[in-house]
Amino acid sequence: MKNQIIKRSWAEPYKIKMVELLKMTTRQQRIKAIKEAGYNTFLLKSEDVYIDLLTDSGTNSMSDRQWGAFMTGDEAYAGSKSYYKLEAAIQKYYGYKYIVPTHQGRAAENILSKILIKKGDIIPGNMYFTTTRLHQELAGGIFADIIIDEAHDPLSEHPFKGNVDIDKLDKLVKEHGAAKIPYVSLATNVNLAGGQPVSMANLKELRAYTNKYNIRIIHDMTRVAENAYFIQQREFGYEKKTIKEIVFEICSLTDGATMSAKKDALVNIGGFMATNEWDVFEEARNLVVVYEGLHTYGGLAGRDMEAIAVGIAESLDDNHQKARVGQVEYLGHKMMEYGVPIVKPIGGHGIFVDAKAFLPHLTQDQFPAQTLAAEMYIDSGVRTMERGIVSAGRKANGENYYPKLELVRFTIPRRVYTQAHMDVIAESAAHVYDKRKSIKGLEMIYEPKYLRFFQAKFAKL
Ligand code: F0G
Repeated sequence: MKNQIIKRSWAEPYKIKMVELLKMTTRQQRIKAIKEAGYNTFLLKSEDVYIDLLTDSGTNSMSDRQWGAFMTGDEAYAGSKSYYKLEAAIQKYYGYKYIVPTHQGRAAENILSKILIKKGDIIPGNMYFTTTRLHQELAGGIFADIIIDEAHDPLSEHPFKGNVDIDKLDKLVKEHGAAKIPYVSLATNVNLAGGQPVSMANLKELRAYTNKYNIRIIHDMTRVAENAYFIQQREFGYEKKTIKEIVFEICSLTDGATMSAKKDALVNIGGFMATNEWDVFEEARNLVVVYEGLHTYGGLAGRDMEAIAVGIAESLDDNHQKARVGQVEYLGHKMMEYGVPIVKPIGGHGIFVDAKAFLPHLTQDQFPAQTLAAEMYIDSGVRTMERGIVSAGRKANGENYYPKLELVRFTIPRRVYTQAHMDVIAESAAHVYDKRKSIKGLEMIYEPKYLRFFQAKFAKL
């Protein structure tokens, strides 16, 4: 008899060689742990967590090839050969001319912001990211959101919710003058919009516009390979291109970049700044010595640079991205089957649950996303992250930002969890959803000055 197979599933292009054993906890233990953590999942001890979806940052599994390269790290203080390997990989795969390694992405943001931003400058961007915006503000800049409106609507199914609204940018240019805008801050796969991509057509349009006014595009390329995967899947004319080709093309349309290698590049620590401008490079190479270390290691060990160089190449493999995003989509579809409200389309690095829709009886001041993240942990030991009013923080004048999106991020580390883990997560979310009406909100009892979501504490109302 002939099998009637309609569907062909994706599967991981690797097998597992080593495992890390996890501690299983009881509900009573978890209630105690989250209370002690001030209902902030950042303050939990990781050994009390079963499935850790706090972030996809630095939580990747490295391959045997990366571990092999790790052992060949050149730990020379100056002129390490591992630095030259990293430089060569960035030039080959991303095409940027000059690079400065940093210990992670925010260090690159700090250096670049200090060099390019003057007090009172406007920095337009396709949605803010916490550390990126803070460094822009600390350098004296004012961030202006120019992402398309659809990005703020969790129900919009726009295929490229990371796109820039050129009219919004044009308004800023007309209002402030191009001289006040040192660059457009362009993220590929916009984290806080739900891991949503920018289309190549939009990027080309942005390039044409910024060329006219002599404004740079600085690329936050933290998740560029995931963005390229969506272009390949969704954009006309790109279905036959490889992720490698698409990533190279994206980078070629920008003038420089900051990168947290802890995401796409499949390592546990590292980042870099890249630029095509010699003057900017000269200054960055000088500043990195102040904050990170000599310009040929920038706060990294030689072995870290080796692992990044290999990780960059692995991240651009089509089969890797298909399985990576395939796993995220698998979880998202399961959650939708259970009626859990999530941001659509499903993003690249995680599932973003719409906490306003999940807990409509809570006001934003009662921290619906923070509350839901705590409830998920209590239910199953799954650790997620708030991406709503707590993450958005306060404006320079002290007022709270009230972001439209109040989300809980279920972030999937790369090459770490199995499909069975995805089932457990979706079932737990469904269980919490079933008893949502009985869930009470939180009040903030401690608030740190910077990036409050990391260390704030809460109590049950
Ligand atoms: N840009 C984006 C888009 C990011 O997602 C991050 C980090 C950074 C920059 C900063 O890089 O952590 O290496 O200093 N995002 C992590 C997250 C923390 O969980 O989303 P970093």
